Amino acid sequence: MAYPTAETAGMVGGFVQPDHLRAQLLSWYDANARHLPWRVGQQDHATGVRADPYRVWLSEVMLQQTTVPHATPYFLAFTERWPTVADLASEADGEVMAAWAGLGYYARARNLLACARAVSNDHGGVFPDTEEGLRALPGLGPYTAAAVGAIAFDLPTNVVDGNVERVMARLFAVDAPLPNAKLELKRLAGELVRSQRPGDWAQALMDLGATVCKPKSPLCERCPVSRHCAAKAEGAPETYPRRTAKAARPHRFGVAYVLTRGDEVALVRRPPKGLLGGMLALPTSEWRAKRWSESEAIGAAPAPVKWRSAGEVEHVFTHFSLTLQILRAEGDAQDVIWSPHRDMGGLPSVFLKAARVGLSSAA
Ligand code: ADE
Repeated sequence: MAYPTAETAGMVGGFVQPDHLRAQLLSWYDANARHLPWRVGQQDHATGVRADPYRVWLSEVMLQQTTVPHATPYFLAFTERWPTVADLASEADGEVMAAWAGLGYYARARNLLACARAVSNDHGGVFPDTEEGLRALPGLGPYTAAAVGAIAFDLPTNVVDGNVERVMARLFAVDAPLPNAKLELKRLAGELVRSQRPGDWAQALMDLGATVCKPKSPLCERCPVSRHCAAKAEGAPETYPRRTAKAARPHRFGVAYVLTRGDEVALVRRPPKGLLGGMLALPTSEWRAKRWSESEAIGAAPAPVKWRSAGEVEHVFTHFSLTLQILRAEGDAQDVIWSPHRDMGGLPSVFLKAARVGLSSAA
């Protein structure tokens, strides 16, 4: 079947035009917008108040990898500690990386700092107000540039994240599977963008995707645009977007060493490039396809002390899953960073889990 275009999509159930769809979604947004700490309220927005580009940018970077409930406390902590982009730019790398711990994708935290420093040093602390200008900042991809452009500067950009892809796939019953359908979904989303209220439009689509047009069980009875929706008319909206079968995630095994010296735990700083780059971590063995035997694990340990097995933890990364086999000992070691037990907050989640398991077992 040929995809409906934005001009014809509204025909399902009543020949409604894109401008009607937009009007219905925007008035739904006026009544139902989520109150989020980086947003400007509807009333303030109507009187010309605009969101702070720094806060919009920070929220978008955080939200690229996690949900609103998970990102919100991080957003509040960051903006309390670093209220402006210049405050963030002048912070030491390790402090920002530690505050980011738990959000994952640590390359983003490094890009975040690079971007803050570029805005601070090269743009006088002011974010560029064009999509091209934003796109030229380090680490700002097309999605973030479009989102900041629309939300902070009311530019009519085409903001397409996973939520918006899902909404488009359903409205237009796009049969092509993701990821190949991405360009088509973006084109369809672009047909609905207008110069009126572009920031609200982008956020209305996001809110619709997050709260109504949900991945597994869409709440069509609450949807302000359900009569435009070709997937609903077909009867199985939850089957969109179509996806190609994913290759199974490979599994790896590694050993994490929980070495204590009284009240302190031995940590290391991971190399700057690569997974969890630049983050504080427990010392580990190499991560490989085969489980580690106890003698191999002891052979790869950071110190010749008496190691005991202390259990294991599981963690899922984007490209593989990991079993960390935990060894625990009390003793000394060279070339480690001794850190108080209570001060594990800056560790990435995988090491925090492993440290908790290791520390709860006797040395
Ligand atoms: N997800 C990504 N960006 C968002 C935003 N600005 N508001 C709500 N959810 C989002």
